[in-house]
Amino acid sequence: MSGLLVIFGITGDLSKRYLLPALYHLEQQNLLPQHFEIIGVSRRNLASHDLHQLLVTAVSAGEAKPQAAVLQRLNAKVRLVTMDLTQPEDYFNLKHQLDAIEDEHGTCLNRLFYLSIPPHTYGPIIDMLGQAGLHSGCQHGIADSRVMVEKPFGYDLATAKELITRLHTVFSESQIFRIDHYLAKETAQNILTFRFANPIFNAGWDRHSIKSITITASEAIGIEGRALFYEPVGALRDFVQNHLLQLLVLVTMPEPRTMDSAHIHAEKLKTLQAIKTITPAAVTTSATRGQYQGYRSEVGNDQSITETFARLRLSIAGDDWRGVPLTLQMGKRLDERRTAIAIEFAGHGHNTNTLIFRIQPDEGIVVELLAKTPGLSYATQAVQMDFSYAQAFGAGMQPSAYQRVLMDGIRGDQTLFASSAEILESWRIVDAVTREWAKSGASLITYKPGTSADDIN
Ligand code: BG6
Repeated sequence: MSGLLVIFGITGDLSKRYLLPALYHLEQQNLLPQHFEIIGVSRRNLASHDLHQLLVTAVSAGEAKPQAAVLQRLNAKVRLVTMDLTQPEDYFNLKHQLDAIEDEHGTCLNRLFYLSIPPHTYGPIIDMLGQAGLHSGCQHGIADSRVMVEKPFGYDLATAKELITRLHTVFSESQIFRIDHYLAKETAQNILTFRFANPIFNAGWDRHSIKSITITASEAIGIEGRALFYEPVGALRDFVQNHLLQLLVLVTMPEPRTMDSAHIHAEKLKTLQAIKTITPAAVTTSATRGQYQGYRSEVGNDQSITETFARLRLSIAGDDWRGVPLTLQMGKRLDERRTAIAIEFAGHGHNTNTLIFRIQPDEGIVVELLAKTPGLSYATQAVQMDFSYAQAFGAGMQPSAYQRVLMDGIRGDQTLFASSAEILESWRIVDAVTREWAKSGASLITYKPGTSADDIN
């Protein structure tokens, strides 16, 4: 394993919040490959002390006392390249520099281009990477080139198709790593293990035993100054199209033949294809949208109909899930930060069990059972069997989603990345709703900051 990680936009927000801290932790645990360098691409001509300061600031934001020795080691692995991303000759220049670094190492290195830049700039950059021959691996053709792109991948089905076509003119599907950082969260990865490795759950996992599935992502934070990004996007495109649909697929897909990437992706795709498109007439009953009070002044648009809360009620065609209501809901400025999947099991009368995957925080899995209350009567009460990651494995044992994303990109493992076909299916589902919502803001509910997701109706 070896790598040249080229980060376009190393001084940007995503790099500072997620990539640099993740690289620090990988370096701290000595997980980075022996032959590994980070090429930080920036428009500005940065001096080496600027880079060190950038690392210190980025890492300190989430770490009370970063270790100076680790920062030094990481710093020594980063080289800065100044580029004007609109200039084709700068990409040829970049290629020369990457070739020269490989010569220094005396070996070919996998090249990983991380586009940590606004998605609307992807198209021309992809073209220019191709023109400079940066898509075809190392100079001797024995190591790979890969490209990592962040969400949002497109704005709707049509733009996602265009972007896929453009990417495919330069990179093959096996070279494209579309990030959905929710898939890289430890708790999301555990869903398949939990379902398929535990016979007690594997057995009755369909409409015969399961009454409903509800996935809720509530955030206490608002849009955090990202008005320009958020205003044309909204909660449905920002979160439901990717993170929540991917979680839904993990809880409803059939067991893949093996746990390798190709088999997992094949089953995920089939499940996404089976999710029914909401008809225009059903949008009012199957989709709910809300906006928190104060959002309009925050974005400086008193007419805004952008939703900061979205709920979809979906269903899956086919025998396994027929009739099971599937609810996905996401909102900002709600009462708490919590992402959880609740699986309600069917029983007689009021007898029911709920299985809850706590994706974050306090990662774990809870089973709600009914127990007889102590005493002479036969009264029952709901009690909890609680598995907590922190208690079972120790706090701080889970790598961050971005550590995982980066390592899998370096290793070339696509399991936790969304395929082109999956992206198109999820836009099909979301487009059916956004098309109706765009017609008028009539159904938009205004909610008070601090409201609970379930109370927005
Ligand atoms: C991002 C969304 O993909 O995920 C943000 O664009 C959201 O709006 C964020 O706040 C949440 O990520 P996490 O890992 O903090 O739950």
